Amino acid sequence: MGPSAATTMRLELSRCTVRPWAETDVEALARHANNRKVSIHLRDRFPFPYTPEHARKFLEWLVQQDSVSVWAIEVDGEAAGGIGIEQKTDVERVSAEIGYWLGESCWGRGIVTEALRAVTAEAFRRFELRRIYALPFADNPASVRVLEKAGYVLEGRLRQSAIKDGQIRDQLLYATYRS
Ligand SMILES: CC(C)(COP(=O)(O)OP(=O)(O)OC[C@H]1O[C@@H](n2cnc3c(N)ncnc32)[C@H](O)[C@@H]1OP(=O)(O)O)[C@@H](O)C(=O)NCCC(=O)NCCS
Repeated sequence: MGPSAATTMRLELSRCTVRPWAETDVEALARHANNRKVSIHLRDRFPFPYTPEHARKFLEWLVQQDSVSVWAIEVDGEAAGGIGIEQKTDVERVSAEIGYWLGESCWGRGIVTEALRAVTAEAFRRFELRRIYALPFADNPASVRVLEKAGYVLEGRLRQSAIKDGQIRDQLLYATYRS
């Protein structure tokens, strides 16, 4: 993604601000992240329960990374969620995967739709990507809706491709392309 993207990108939007994480986000991060309804739709590296110690370790790890592109979604003056892009390597270096989450108290206000649209457009402007994709679990209609509203299209269903908390789940492959 390039060393500077994670530290310099700041998008002031109408419903939220997408900005770099700061070490002062520990408390807000732990409070919004510590929710089974959030973690159940994310990869296992997003733990439950999500303690202030998890938050501190994540933010400490982040400042040591050169090319990790993850940002906070700031709502009403505090970090209430996250959005990130991971560029693939080798022949897939023209592709990146995007992921996001938001604290439950902020759901349903169009916040992630706005953030996803803006980060997608900015990523195509900044980086030499052709494609950005997401892999929501098939039983995550809110995420599917957000992707569709942001212009992502369904490419396929990856049957029985994932296991979360002992349960096998399908994933959907959604993508958007450099226009
Ligand atoms: C998915 C998530 C990011 C959505 O964030 P958000 O800011 O609430 O999303 P928005 O308000 O922009 O849009 C949500 C849309 O989903 C719809 N929706 C929500 N729950 C739904 C459900 N159970 N069934 C169908 N649609 C649903 C909303 O109505 C809205 O669509 P609309 O504008 O057409 O009415 C948030 O719920 C979340 O963090 N979930 C847990 C983590 C997660 O799933 N991350 C994505 C992993 S792929």
